[in-house]
Amino acid sequence: MVAHPVVTPVPETLELDGGLFLRPLTLGDAPIVFDAVQGERSDLRTWLPWVDQTETVADTIRFILEAQERRNDGSALVYGLWLDLDFAGVVDLHAIDHDNGSAQIGYWLRAGARGQGLATQASMALLGIAFEILDLERIEIRCATGNEPSQAIPRRLGFVMEGTLRHAQRLVDGHSDLRVFGLLAQEYRQALHEFERR
Ligand SMILES: CC(C)(COP(=O)(O)OP(=O)(O)OC[C@H]1O[C@@H](n2cnc3c(N)ncnc32)[C@H](O)[C@@H]1OP(=O)(O)O)[C@@H](O)C(=O)NCCC(=O)NCCS
Repeated sequence: MVAHPVVTPVPETLELDGGLFLRPLTLGDAPIVFDAVQGERSDLRTWLPWVDQTETVADTIRFILEAQERRNDGSALVYGLWLDLDFAGVVDLHAIDHDNGSAQIGYWLRAGARGQGLATQASMALLGIAFEILDLERIEIRCATGNEPSQAIPRRLGFVMEGTLRHAQRLVDGHSDLRVFGLLAQEYRQALHEFERR
């Protein structure tokens, strides 16, 4: 097993452009997060397998407690997104594997928070944490083949579409194929360099 590198602590909160704020969810957030899931259940359950298992606010409390545990053991960083203090959704860096230097990004937004680049902006911030603080080598985003808005995010961020995992996720309509998008540390640095030269 490879020794885990000593890393700079990950920021607790992130303030991004345009009033977008990321911070770990607390138990006090459970009612608002649950209400968001409840209010948009029929849309969210199309793509997110955990929605049908979120039946009461107690399930959201359990999710937040698990997120806190995973933050403490270094396996995931889950952030709530707030836009001008309104809850907008959740992004995370999960499946953090320090031995192989890899992790995955996930996201969901309330319907009213979509179409403004928030998930793209938040994912970019997670890439900064992954590559610059955690010193990871590879980030993946996996999206169901029919989920175009989700696939647009890695495409916008310069990920490479590497392949398709057949029937890799069970969704409400049955098994779905997953597109795997990958970004390597060197590609991230190159993209940043080109962006800064513009
Ligand atoms: C996937 C999901 C988060 C994408 O939401 P989104 O709002 O399309 O994504 P972003 O927040 O990055 O916004 C991108 C949109 O904002 C626009 N935009 C505006 N300003 C922008 C900016 N500064 N940067 C990037 N995009 C910007 C883009 O053009 C795009 O609009 P378009 O869809 O009309 O082309 C959302 O559809 C969702 O929550 N779906 C349900 C859950 C889900 O599928 N999760 C993923 C499972 S793999």
